[in-house]
Order: sequence, then structure tokens, then C-alpha cells
Amino acid sequence: MDQEEEKYAKLEKIVQMVNNSEISSVQNIVSGITKIINDPKSSAKDLKEIIQIDPPLTGKLLKLANSVYYSPRTQISEIQQAIIWVGYDTLKELALSQKVCEVFAGGTDIEGYSRILLWKHSVAVALLAKMIYRREFGRKGENIYVAGLLHDIGIIALDQFCQDDFRLILSKTKTEKQNLTKTEKEVLGFDHTEVGKAMTDSWNLPQELVEVIGYHHNPDNIAREFLRPGLTLYVADYVCQQKGFGYSDAPIQDEKLFRRCLKRIDLTSYALDLIVEDVEQEILKMEEQGLF
Ligand SMILES: [Fe+2]
Ligand SMILES: [Fe+2]
Repeated sequence: MDQEEEKYAKLEKIVQMVNNSEISSVQNIVSGITKIINDPKSSAKDLKEIIQIDPPLTGKLLKLANSVYYSPRTQISEIQQAIIWVGYDTLKELALSQKVCEVFAGGTDIEGYSRILLWKHSVAVALLAKMIYRREFGRKGENIYVAGLLHDIGIIALDQFCQDDFRLILSKTKTEKQNLTKTEKEVLGFDHTEVGKAMTDSWNLPQELVEVIGYHHNPDNIAREFLRPGLTLYVADYVCQQKGFGYSDAPIQDEKLFRRCLKRIDLTSYALDLIVEDVEQEILKMEEQGLF
């Protein structure tokens, strides 16, 4: 087997592990779900609110909605649409079967990483990207929200299914003071963007999501038709890392590329700052609710 074949075989194995046993969530989410389902006064809306801040459950829901069994006429990339398509009872079942991740689950981080911090980062990126879409482009921004929430799902898969390698990657990233993707490539031969791309592709998610997740650290490689969501995601990811919203996988930032992306989506720093302030408030509210 040559190097390239070996890489794809390894990637395929991770995707298979994910699809055979599914990705777990953090304790806060699973406890929140149990509370909602046991409360007779709660509704589908309450369940949606918690699912939309959980990358694994959102992934699971979209995978199910786009499966052969449900066969939507056009692929589904929005959470609300997926919920309507699979129905509330199935949604409840799906949420109740969600397991808690044991490793990296606690509040204390390992080399700057914990699942809680990654969750917080994912939600912040999703909110920021959605607000940019709403305010600047006058669009609903539901697709870009999902892209933000799932963009680092490859990291979650590595932390759950390649634990030894992942610990090595985390410590090497810290000692060598480099970005996570660089260490991932050195240790595994590929990085979490490729894992995320392979996973979402295997779930039959819309190509737009697969592409922007797959190129979230290299927006220049994105297909022309997905340029706007791809650049927006890059900007949102960059800002959340700079502001320290949760975990940061790329502490060494490429400011030139960031400025170029801002310009290409025609977003001024002033408008961006205002949006970031609102995201900060939202995150604070979630912290007060004990979610992160
Ligand atoms: Fe990333
Ligand atoms: Fe990220």
C-alpha cells in the first residue's frame, strides 16, 4: 500500500468506527435532554434548543434525515427542517439514546483541550457565522449555523476513537507550539478537516456542508459556488479563536488570509465587532445556564 492508499484506509476506518458506534456528547447535554424529556410541559422547541448546541446530536439528526430510510427530496442541512422530517417521537428516541463521553469530558483541560471547551468553540462559531449571514447578507443563516457547529467534528472523532494518537497530538502541539492540523498531519498523515469531510460525506449531508467543513482551515481551496459560506466560516472560526471563545486549534493565526477573507465577503471590521459583542452576550447567557 502506498502512502496515499494507507491514508485513505485509515480515514475510512475512523469513519466506520464513528458510524458503527456513534459519537458521544458531554454530560451537561445528556442531563439536559433527560430533564426535558421527563418534563411533561416541555416541547419539541425545548429539545431543538439543546440539540442545536450539541455537534454529535446535530450530526446524528442530519445523518438520519438524509438517510435512505427517510430519503428527502432534496438533502437537508437545517436542524428545524430535519426535525420536521423525522418527527418528534424519533427525535426523542434519538436524543435519549445519546451517551456521555468519559474521556476529556470533565471541566479540566488536557494541554488546553477539553470537550466542553470544544463545544463552546463550536457553538460560538455557529452563532457568529449565522449572525454574519443575517446582518450582512440578509439570509436566514441556518445552513451556515450547522456548518459552524459541525466544522470541528473531526476533532471529536479523533478524541473518541483515536485516544492514544490524540493525546500524543495534543502534547506535541503544545511542546512544538504549532497548530493542531500540523501535528495531526505529522502523526496521522491527515488532519481533522479531512476526517470531518469524510464523515459528513458518508452521512450524505449536502455538498455545501461537506466542502466548507473540509476546507475550514484552507478557504482558498474551496469550490467557487461555496465561497461565501466557506469564507464566512473561516472568519467566524478565526475570530472565536482570537477572542478565546472555547478551544483554539489554530493559535498561530494567518492575519493576512483573515483580512483577505473579510474583504472578499465585504465585511467591515466595525460591523464584525458589533456582531462579536452580541455573540459574547449569548455565550455568557449559556455559561450562566451552566451549559459550558
Ligand atoms: Fe478546525
Ligand atoms: Fe474551529
